Amino acid sequence: AFRLSKVLQLTLAVIKPDAVAHPLILEALHEKILENNFIIVRRKDLVWKKEQSETFYAEHSGRFFYQRLVEFMSSGPMRAYVLARDDAIHHWREMMGPTKVFRARHTSPDTIRGQFGLTDTRNTTHGSDSVESAHKEIKFFFPDFCIDRWMNEDEPSFR
Ligand code: PPS
Repeated sequence: AFRLSKVLQLTLAVIKPDAVAHPLILEALHEKILENNFIIVRRKDLVWKKEQSETFYAEHSGRFFYQRLVEFMSSGPMRAYVLARDDAIHHWREMMGPTKVFRARHTSPDTIRGQFGLTDTRNTTHGSDSVESAHKEIKFFFPDFCIDRWMNEDEPSFR
């Protein structure tokens, strides 16, 4: 029998403060999510304290852009989504386009960052880059969400 759960994968998508600050961009991104057949499982508008931003990006703490990134991500409202779809992680990252805005504009003008990205810091969206990071990031943003029910180790195709 057809099992819906077999084809769904979860990802964490974040609309960053630069995009949330512009109602029309926020609306356009929300529409894009729906047009791309994602199911919106959870959605939350939030503002990070600096410490939350530091913790989330801890793996980049040695990088030259760390302070800039941490401050920007705690500078104003963001919107976080738990999204479900087949191949959700990869699909959302394809939609976002390259991290670096110069590259995004020149090589992928139809992507989210190609269209709306301002700088390498103010680059509109975030998306988990693997099943492991999706798991971790969804827990970080949505501590009450029972993710273990979606990440069943016994069913590899579930991932
Ligand atoms: S890497 O090298 O693959 O680990 O880096 P990448 O995934 O491209 O980027 C990690 C996050 O750091 C942000 N970033 C930057 N911020 C500010 N300035 C510069 N130059 C810069 N380069 C990368 C980038 O937007 C990523 O943030 P998230 O929120 O994960 O998209």
